[in-house]
Amino acid sequence: MAKNSKKTFYITTPIYYVNDMPHVGHAYTTIIADALSRHKKLAGYDVFFLTGTDEHGQKIEKAAAQKGMTPIELADQVVIRFKNLWKALNISYDYFIRTTQDFHEKGVQKIFGKLKEKGAIYKGVYKGWYCVSDENFLAEDIPEDSEGQKTCPDCGKKAGQVSEECYFFKLSAYQNKLLDFYTSHPTFVQPQSRMNEVVSFVRHGLKDLSITRTTVKWGIPVLDDPEHTIYVWFDALHNYLTGIGYDWDLASFEKFWPATVHLIGKDILRFHAIFWPAFLMAADFPLPETVYSHGWWLKDETKMSKSRGNVLDPNLILDVFGPDPLRYFLLREIPIGLDGNFSHEGFLHRVNSDLANDLGNLVQRTLTMIQNSFGGKIEKIAQERDIDKQLRLAFDSVKDKVFHFYEEYAINRALEEIWGYINQVNKYLAENEPWKLADDESQKENLGRILYQAEAALRGISFLIFPVMPESAQKIWDYLGKSTPIEKESYATLKFDGFALGQKTRKPKALFPRVKLKDFLAEEKSNTVQIAKEGHMDYITFDEFKKIDLRVGEIIKVEKVEGTRKLLKIDVNIGTETRQMISGIADEYKPEDLVGKKLVVIVNLKPAIIRGIESQAMLLAAEIDDKAIIPFFIEDVPAGAKVK
Ligand code: MSP
Repeated sequence: MAKNSKKTFYITTPIYYVNDMPHVGHAYTTIIADALSRHKKLAGYDVFFLTGTDEHGQKIEKAAAQKGMTPIELADQVVIRFKNLWKALNISYDYFIRTTQDFHEKGVQKIFGKLKEKGAIYKGVYKGWYCVSDENFLAEDIPEDSEGQKTCPDCGKKAGQVSEECYFFKLSAYQNKLLDFYTSHPTFVQPQSRMNEVVSFVRHGLKDLSITRTTVKWGIPVLDDPEHTIYVWFDALHNYLTGIGYDWDLASFEKFWPATVHLIGKDILRFHAIFWPAFLMAADFPLPETVYSHGWWLKDETKMSKSRGNVLDPNLILDVFGPDPLRYFLLREIPIGLDGNFSHEGFLHRVNSDLANDLGNLVQRTLTMIQNSFGGKIEKIAQERDIDKQLRLAFDSVKDKVFHFYEEYAINRALEEIWGYINQVNKYLAENEPWKLADDESQKENLGRILYQAEAALRGISFLIFPVMPESAQKIWDYLGKSTPIEKESYATLKFDGFALGQKTRKPKALFPRVKLKDFLAEEKSNTVQIAKEGHMDYITFDEFKKIDLRVGEIIKVEKVEGTRKLLKIDVNIGTETRQMISGIADEYKPEDLVGKKLVVIVNLKPAIIRGIESQAMLLAAEIDDKAIIPFFIEDVPAGAKVK
């Protein structure tokens, strides 16, 4: 097959775990990737943009079990949420890979087999600690706490002890090779500060990495030793190869590998900057050009995450604003490497000031004046004055800077440049006051010249904002009388006065809604309370809800279940009788503190045998960072009263 002469650009997002609904943090990575892909397409590259979902491992297995589903049922459901969100956000990925796809599983097995054959993978026994939440083996030097437990340094959750036969990857053999590689490719990890972190980690020494589990069933089995399930990170990282055709579309694979950039959050840097290049070296694949690590979106100064309960559902914002304001805000507010704090005030300020006022008004008044004074079409213009020339030349310099910043992944700076120019055009209009000339026939030519300048500037602006705000850019383009898709254009064709003259423009509609903070918060609150609209939630009917028999229970007696750390046996009076229930809350509550308390219990759940004891009811509790918090009644309510 003839090799395409265009330069390729292959960009990836991490593949997202399917135990969680997508939130603003996930949307952030994907929006960056989308903006960069769109930019590269306009710059003439042959782009491949890969995203997808990470569906195996203990974390997914557990999440599915808690919901009473099989892992694949859960994955199928969550994948739809991700795909719907990407659609609503206008994400133009080329392929969405799921690690449960057959070709991916086969590809991973094949590479695993190859490494085993080469001796880079060997069998041994792993003894140590494993964090299910991060799907990560803990480093040995992490100390045990007073209860003999270890805590995962990344997520702060308790790790579990494991001892099992497994396969190891000879990571230790790659320490020097990796260090040499970092030296010869100093921009491999971006931003630079992250590179320093990686080098110092590797210099401290690398231990061989356990890459299979026998206690986890939900995953890819080792081909000739199926008791062993391949570790979820070994499985997941290879999506970057299988997603573009490794082992099923050779031409595509050869065209796009190695990746230009793996875009990731800083929490998964080690996997991408150390393990991944080592796996690739072992299998003789060329290494990716860059791993670009971005910061986190925080809410109330802590990382958004489901377990902290501070995630922001992007759907709520999209319902009110459409995709572009969120895309703009996330990309404008912070440089890619830093953390940002998401606040509704900050978001609305940007939307109202930068989008509705600066850009929206410019579009509105320019095109309305062209409609009113020229029937939508300026046929001819007077000669350019100095002030007009300045506006035209400023565009060329802004265009170069914007291009440069997009190339550097400094999207926030590209946007700053564009908005600097928008304000320059607004200033030009304020100084020339075309609205005062409209009724004066002798000023018609002058008026045409001024509006022509603004129209030409808008065309350029719409082009430059396209990577970040494709929908609004296309709308402006359409108002200007062009119906072709911007994505078919290229920077090479972009000139200040490319088509403004004689073009029939249309009457514009407001581009961005103006929303007051109080209305926005009220809208979000009401949505959150009833947990969102159709498409974001699995509703149950009231009749289904009525089947759950909830009662006030009074705790009579509590004792620890022998031989367990977490379980308590609780006798609870539910009005008509006393039931016993087994509950894993010993970390949070002492037995003596519970006696006499009143709480909500489900009394018609099918009894279950836990550690040989029948549990005949279940209490309700909030789960915060893996800790149970029980809501107790503060009023004196009678045991057995119905809760509904
Ligand atoms: N499945 C792994 C990645 C495997 S890639 C071979 C995983 N998944 S994840 O769903 O937990 O996270 C995916 C990405 O979302 C990570 O890059 C993570 O940094 C990013 N984010 C999750 N929460 C975030 C914020 N609050 N802010 C910004 N990005 C965050 O890790």
